[in-house]
Amino acid sequence: MNVSGKIVVVTGGADGIGRALCERFHREGAAKIVVADVNAAGAEAVAQSIEGAAFACDVSREADIRHVVEQTEQNFGPIDLWCGNAGIAVLDARPNDAASAPDEAWARSWAVNVMAHIYAARALVPRMIARGGGYFLNTVSAAGLLSQIGGAVYATTKHAAVGFAENLAITHRHQGIRVSILCPQGVDTAMLRGLPAGPQSLDGVLTPAQVADAATVGLARESFLILPHPQVASYMRNKVENYDRWIGGMAKLQARLQAKTPGV
Ligand SMILES: NC(=O)c1ccc[n+]([C@@H]2O[C@H](COP(=O)([O-])OP(=O)(O)OC[C@H]3O[C@@H](n4cnc5c(N)ncnc54)[C@H](O)[C@@H]3O)[C@@H](O)[C@H]2O)c1
Repeated sequence: MNVSGKIVVVTGGADGIGRALCERFHREGAAKIVVADVNAAGAEAVAQSIEGAAFACDVSREADIRHVVEQTEQNFGPIDLWCGNAGIAVLDARPNDAASAPDEAWARSWAVNVMAHIYAARALVPRMIARGGGYFLNTVSAAGLLSQIGGAVYATTKHAAVGFAENLAITHRHQGIRVSILCPQGVDTAMLRGLPAGPQSLDGVLTPAQVADAATVGLARESFLILPHPQVASYMRNKVENYDRWIGGMAKLQARLQAKTPGV
């Protein structure tokens, strides 16, 4: 897909990767970009800078997503590209205990990182099928492919997001629906700055603009898997070639990191 002339919605567009996607798609000539974010003032500021529109939207609430879809289509026309980008990174309560996060952390992460994609598909797929197609670009993470040390909640919900995106792509391909997942490692945003240093930054931290560049190339190719850090492809190959060796390697990395921060 070339976004020139397209109607685009970006969730989590007020900051970070989402804001970079909005800015990049504006430069590419999108007809209208809708910024949907729980941070209403931030969404408004980004929308103003790109002649877009803003909606206050908590993606974990189906009614909010339905509202964005209905209002966007009523005011600007059919949505060509839905960027499900909003996400949250909740770490485990204790990094040496994979089940340590409380139920509330699991429930909130499940709602924002997974259910939001399902709500968007529920609202949009029937409309897209009726008009012959449409595109979902879902920001997931390399953690959804390769797990994340000390981040069982984040990695598990991001794996689920990959699973849903695969099913969306498989089930509706013949109806003209296309899906891409954007899976970076470390990106210099408020989210990453709020986390302790970890393996997500070992291959270098990209700028949000670099991730938006990779997204634009991936969209043009209509690739399902978009990897702004190319190293992730070789880690995935290592994983499928020998799953047990990969688990062993990750366990050693976990132990090394643990040794640096004893007592946690
Ligand atoms: N930064 C990284 O290193 C990194 C790496 C891999 C994947 N990701 C993913 O990229 C996406 C964007 O993250 P970012 O790094 O730009 O984070 P960020 O914190 O800079 O921006 C996230 C945006 O999403 C919004 N948001 C949060 N919860 C929301 C909700 N319930 N409803 C609507 N909007 C909500 C925030 O207000 C904010 O504007 C996330 O899905 C994240 O998991 C980030």
